[in-house]
Amino acid sequence: MSRGAGIASRTWTAAAKSTVVRSNSWARFLRRPSDRDAIAMHRLVADTRVLDVNSTYTYLLMATDFADTTIVADRDGELCGLITAYHPPVRPEVLFVWQVAVAESARGTGLAGVMLDTLVDRVRRDRHGHPVTVEATVSPDNTASRAFFGAFAKRHGVLLVEQPHFTSAQLDSDGNHEDEPLLRIGPIATPMVD
Ligand SMILES: CC(C)(COP(=O)(O)OP(=O)(O)OC[C@H]1O[C@@H](n2cnc3c(N)ncnc32)[C@H](O)[C@@H]1OP(=O)(O)O)[C@@H](O)C(=O)NCCC(=O)NCCS
Repeated sequence: MSRGAGIASRTWTAAAKSTVVRSNSWARFLRRPSDRDAIAMHRLVADTRVLDVNSTYTYLLMATDFADTTIVADRDGELCGLITAYHPPVRPEVLFVWQVAVAESARGTGLAGVMLDTLVDRVRRDRHGHPVTVEATVSPDNTASRAFFGAFAKRHGVLLVEQPHFTSAQLDSDGNHEDEPLLRIGPIATPMVD
């Protein structure tokens, strides 16, 4: 075993433990979305005041056609977290994470991390345990987002690689949007535990 692989496996062991501890408190609130969630998903994203807010129709698509790659946290009827994602048609081994939002009242409790771990686990099970690589674009100064994906890579003991992707010019003709480089995290290939 190479030195790198040893480090990775130690990281996974310690992290898996903390993930289990954290997921115990949120697991019962996590589920696939349904068509009834689109309006609350739209509101949750708008309430972050930092994410681009898309139409309710877009969230309705994510909650129906993309429900298998989307997850929500529903705490007794209050939608307090979501991750919308999909498999790019030409790269089906990739889970492209589009938006992550947690209500202010639920932040700092590990919810976003548990949602992503649960979603990746679900997607891999749906695909008979095949490895998955997580991708997301993150603007350079989005500290929270970078910390979130960095923590995910560390927990799973995999590399996080950054490369140029969407540019400011593609996103806003007046240059009012930052570049969105791509983060590639993975592949997540650990054996699935029952
Ligand atoms: C970013 C956001 C999703 C984090 O949700 P959360 O449930 O509070 O995050 P978690 O508690 O699961 O934290 C996951 C990791 O990110 C880190 N993190 C979360 N928010 C952070 C912040 N504001 N600054 C620095 N690090 C942060 C945590 O320390 C944790 O790392 P650790 O496991 O090494 O301790 C939430 O703050 C949010 O919805 N923000 C507005 C929307 C947004 O920016 N979305 C893009 C996120 S990809």
